Amino acid sequence: MELDNWTAVRRDFPCTDARVFLNTGTLGPVATPVMERYLASMRQWNATGPGSSDVYIGWRNRVETARATLAAALGSGADSLSLFGNVTDAINVVLVGLGLPDDARIITTDEEHGALVGPLTQLAQRGITVDVVPFGQGGPELVARLAAAMDQAPTTLLALSHMSCETGAVFDAQALAAEAHRRGVLVMLDGAQTPGQMPLALDAWGVDFYPFNGHKWMGAPPGCGGLYAAPSAAARLALTYTGDGAGWSSGYPASWTETRPADGRRFEYGTRNWPAWVAWGDVVAYRASLPGDPYARQRALASSLRAALAEVPGVAVRSPEPVGGIVTVSVDGKAGDRVYQQLLAAGVVGRRVLRPHMDGVRFSVAYFNNEEDVARACAAVAQVAASR
Ligand SMILES: Cc1ncc(COP(=O)(O)O)c(C=O)c1O
Repeated sequence: MELDNWTAVRRDFPCTDARVFLNTGTLGPVATPVMERYLASMRQWNATGPGSSDVYIGWRNRVETARATLAAALGSGADSLSLFGNVTDAINVVLVGLGLPDDARIITTDEEHGALVGPLTQLAQRGITVDVVPFGQGGPELVARLAAAMDQAPTTLLALSHMSCETGAVFDAQALAAEAHRRGVLVMLDGAQTPGQMPLALDAWGVDFYPFNGHKWMGAPPGCGGLYAAPSAAARLALTYTGDGAGWSSGYPASWTETRPADGRRFEYGTRNWPAWVAWGDVVAYRASLPGDPYARQRALASSLRAALAEVPGVAVRSPEPVGGIVTVSVDGKAGDRVYQQLLAAGVVGRRVLRPHMDGVRFSVAYFNNEEDVARACAAVAQVAASR
């Protein structure tokens, strides 16, 4: 039997063999060809003696090619990108580096991840005001709610997800940045869910700070996070963590010299897993080699899952029509955790959603999933909904 092109692609993702894997929104698998190159890098790293300066500096330099590749893929200048281990690192670099005064006011939403809730809680404990608006179904209504909230009291910063990790709802980043900047308010969008799920145009959007990662929808190895800081906004960030790499010293104080240019690299320091970031650059080439548009494919699969689940008795769809691959449902009379566990037992991997306003299960449909995954997930949900 001839394999269609996407069936061949699916073979690069062995996690699809064992179960219906629908949780790329938590962590995505790395395609086998990218993983093979990454593992070969690590073997070479080890075999050549990593502490030899030609070896580790060689890897550090190769990161610059990856940075340029990523920047082009995300619609940003390479100078505006700093690389970290995850989104949470980048969020902290912004929220601490802004040095917000105690009378600052931040507006966020009711669907934020712990990666943002944690740092916001720290700021609130210092006396900073954190106001919350509902994320709802995103879209222009969310932009309008945020604009109204900004008009209620002087505001310093909007800090919210660009795409809700709970429902996949999204909004127009450029429209929000315009509303905020008209009022002199800074914007940080947590982009953990967007790269690889929808196209990004970071410079064009005009947001000030955009933390993001590669280890979910882009399919990079774990440990791939980054920060986009618009040039005007980056200048407002004090260095929270710094050290060797950002500068060099033979002793305090006289010999300290800044060795990094005044671009995004000044936020990076110390030893890093440079081969992982090089693999992140490789991911861009892998995605370009796919037989079609991965965004369109995962959107179509997610849309058909959403439509099928909407027909299942006792199931309420909580997501808007997908822009990316996320579909969330609640099952009447059943806690999301129980639904999640029953689906897992049936070989379908989703993720629990638990909020005061929503108790359900999230499915993350990626381009390497297929129609059979969609049908199996839907049948399993129907069985769970029909059971006691
Ligand atoms: C919206 C959002 N922000 C932040 C994170 C945390 O990402 P990381 O582990 O890269 O810090 C996640 C992960 O699920 C997320 O969905």
